[in-house]
Order: sequence, then structure tokens, then C-alpha cells
Amino acid sequence: MQKSITSFFKPKDEISSTDQCPNYDIIIPAILMYDIKELHKHCPMHPGMPLRPMLAQPTKGVHEVLERFSGMHITCEWKYDGERAQIHLNNQGDISIFSRNSENNTAKYPDLIARSKSFLKTNVHSYILDSEIVAWDVERKQILPFQVLSTRKRKNVDIDEIKVQVCVYIFDLLYFNGISLVTKPLSERRMILFENFQEIEGEWKFATALNTDDMDEVQQFLEESIKGNCEGLMVKTLDEEATYEIAKRSRNWLKLKKDYLSNVGDSLDLVIIGGYKGKGRRTGIYGGFLLACYDAENEEYQSICKIGTGFTDEDLKVHSAFLQKHVLSGAKSYFRYDSSLEPDAWFEPVQVWEVKCADLSLSPIHRAAIGIVDNERGISLRFPRFIRIRDDKSPENASDANQIAHMYNSQDQVKNNQKSSNGMDTESDFY
Ligand SMILES: *[C@@H]1O[C@H](CO)[C@@H](O)[C@H](O)[C@H]1NC(C)=O
Ligand SMILES: *[C@@H]1O[C@H](CO)[C@@H](O)[C@H](O)[C@H]1NC(C)=O
Repeated sequence: MQKSITSFFKPKDEISSTDQCPNYDIIIPAILMYDIKELHKHCPMHPGMPLRPMLAQPTKGVHEVLERFSGMHITCEWKYDGERAQIHLNNQGDISIFSRNSENNTAKYPDLIARSKSFLKTNVHSYILDSEIVAWDVERKQILPFQVLSTRKRKNVDIDEIKVQVCVYIFDLLYFNGISLVTKPLSERRMILFENFQEIEGEWKFATALNTDDMDEVQQFLEESIKGNCEGLMVKTLDEEATYEIAKRSRNWLKLKKDYLSNVGDSLDLVIIGGYKGKGRRTGIYGGFLLACYDAENEEYQSICKIGTGFTDEDLKVHSAFLQKHVLSGAKSYFRYDSSLEPDAWFEPVQVWEVKCADLSLSPIHRAAIGIVDNERGISLRFPRFIRIRDDKSPENASDANQIAHMYNSQDQVKNNQKSSNGMDTESDFY
């Protein structure tokens, strides 16, 4: 593994010589011969020598993307769940592949090297590409989870014995035909990439991308990426502040993962059984509600979450006025809830709301589907959001306990944990 030399002699705002050429045999003689400020000119980037990759900042949601990039040209790319790979071709025709930590993975991917001519469109004699290698289901033509890729042999791989096929999703070009591109903006690097390389189905692909600054489109694209078996999006600057920052965790690349969003996935239809008094601007009306699913078997309403987001002030007034007419003197005997959730008012189960959430998790206080997935714990919703009233549904036609248990079990995380209960941390989490 190539360890990087510290970058303490890096001239401000310049590319560090050690980042682009982490090789003592070249740098040490250069330090002795040249002015440190000029060093990077004498230690050029060259294919075969890994660069430390640019990394992205995590974000908590689309609103952060909007704040950071307002007024700038940006692009969103699907964030693939695989292994980061820097692929190099040098003038002698040698290919090398390096991991995120500059480990030499060349011997792990003889299959990629064997087919590396197919995706060249023009006369290409050297390059450094940044990409994600993903496990690929050849028959179904779809991406497989990281767990599958991680079962692939690491060393001395024999091309005839490969069981896990891979597809490379290319998203950046750092060096091309003898010239470093890292100081060029992403829009230009990408143009050179598209002009000189071509996609081959199931083998070499460009990361699926959308150039937009409309946050609704970003949100929708995020949902599509999840449906496409990705982890979320990478959001990047295209023109201004859009150079490739070697070895930096940069604010010019933001990652947006599905956990951060509050409306991915199917919606649920839930019954309002309690209300909490609002504060501040919402004094005198209800500011939050206790929701329940219906368990047809036991004929009871089981609490599933508290909800206080997704409402305008006007919505809250309308809901409060309506629910005020259905206040009970106490909880019904067929309400299942924990005493810590005791609301300010209990309501007759009379209305159904459509709600979306980030995900479903096991809860020590909520009672939805209790006894189906877990004997002691129910299921609750994380980050629930109100979508609309479902006038067409009666409370007994709300989502039922079995449906909730099914939704919980079909979440990818839950499925993966059941398959490989070793709680493995995926390398891709660091991208
Ligand atoms: C990486 O590994 C390949 C094949 O094992 C080898 O030919 C190459 O010299 C290595 N590169 C570096 C920089 O160590
Ligand atoms: C639930 O909805 C179905 C039609 O979708 C209807 O036939 C049925 O009577 C409803 N059940 C209740 C309890 O409202």
C-alpha cells in the first residue's frame, strides 16, 4: 500500500506534490533540487501511481444542498454501493486499479483489465479514471448489494474462476493522454470523458447523472436512485469551485443518502387517536398527533408514531377544528399505547391520514405489529410526514399490523442483517 507523505510543504491553494505523486523516490530528490513552491511541477501526476481520492461531505437533507449550492450549477449522480476504484492506464499500456485507500487492487480485477479496450472511443494512450466497481447480476441486468461484491477474492484472482461479475460506474476523469485535468472544472472533465470513452452494457457505464438546481427534481432523482439499488446521490458543483480536490473531503461534493430523506418509499394510511397541544405560534390548536395502525385480528388500534411535520399552520387549524368534535373523555379500551405517550386529548378513530417516513424501526414504546416481528417491541416510523387526508378510507381500512410488519421486514437493511448478521461496515460508507 502506498502511504502518503504528509503535505506540510504544500503551497496554499496549490495541489500538493505528495498528493499527486505519493512516491518518495521522486519527491525526495526533487525536494533537494528545487524550490518547494515549484515542487509540484517537478513531481507530476502519473498513471500507475495512485492519487488520494476526493471525498464528499455528508448532508442531512435536500435543504442543506440548497443552502450550500444556491445559485450554482450542480449535478447529481447516483451513489453506487460498491468499491471506489481509481483506474490507471500508462503509456506502456499497463492498467492499475487502486482502492479508496490507495491499495493496489490490480490483481483483484483481471476481468476488468481483459476488457479495458472495449470502452475506449478514440485514440487513448493514458488516463486516470475515478469510479465505483459494483457487483452485477448478468442475467437480471441489475446492481447487486455491496455484500455480494465483498465475497469476491482479493488476491491472485483467476479470470476463469470469477463468480461475482462487476460493472464499473465511471464518474470522473483526472488525467487524460498525458495531461492532468484536476484543475479543470467537472463540466470540462466530464466532457472529455464522454468524448473519449463509451458505455458497454453491464461492463462500463457512466454514473447516472442529472444536472439540475431544482430541489424537487433532486428529491425525485434521489428516490429513483434508491429504486435503482443505489444508496443515494452525490451532488457536485459543475463549473465554479468544481476542480478535483485530491485527498480532500470537500464541500463541493455532498452526499445525500436515503436515510436523510423523510419521504422515501411507500406511504402508510394511519388513524389519528390523540393530539398534543401546540406551543408558540400554534398555541390553542394541536401541534402534534398520535397515530395508530389497525390490527384486524385483535380489533385494536396500535400506536405507531407521533407526528408534527408536514403540516402548514392552516392545516393544523383545520385538523384541530375537525378533531375537536371527536374528543373522548379517555382512551378507548382498544387503543394500545405506552403511558409515556399519553396525549392532551384522545380522539374517536374517525379519520385516516396518508403518511410517509424515512424508515420503520423497532420501538420499545410503540405497539404497531407487536408480537409479529418482536414479542416485546412494536414498530414505529422514523421521520413521519403528513401527506394528505384519506377521506376515501375508513379507519378500519387503515394500514394493518401485518402490512406494517411486512414493510418493516422488506427494508433492505433488515433483509441484509437477516442474511449476514455480522453487522459488517461497508467500505462505501466512506466515499
Ligand atoms: C500493482 O499491482 C500490479 C499487479 O500485481 C503490479 O504490476 C504493479 O506494479 C503494482 N503497482 C504499484 C504502484 O504497486
Ligand atoms: C374496506 O374497503 C373495502 C373496499 O376497498 C370495502 O369493501 C370494505 O367494506 C372496507 N372495510 C371497512 C371496514 O370499511
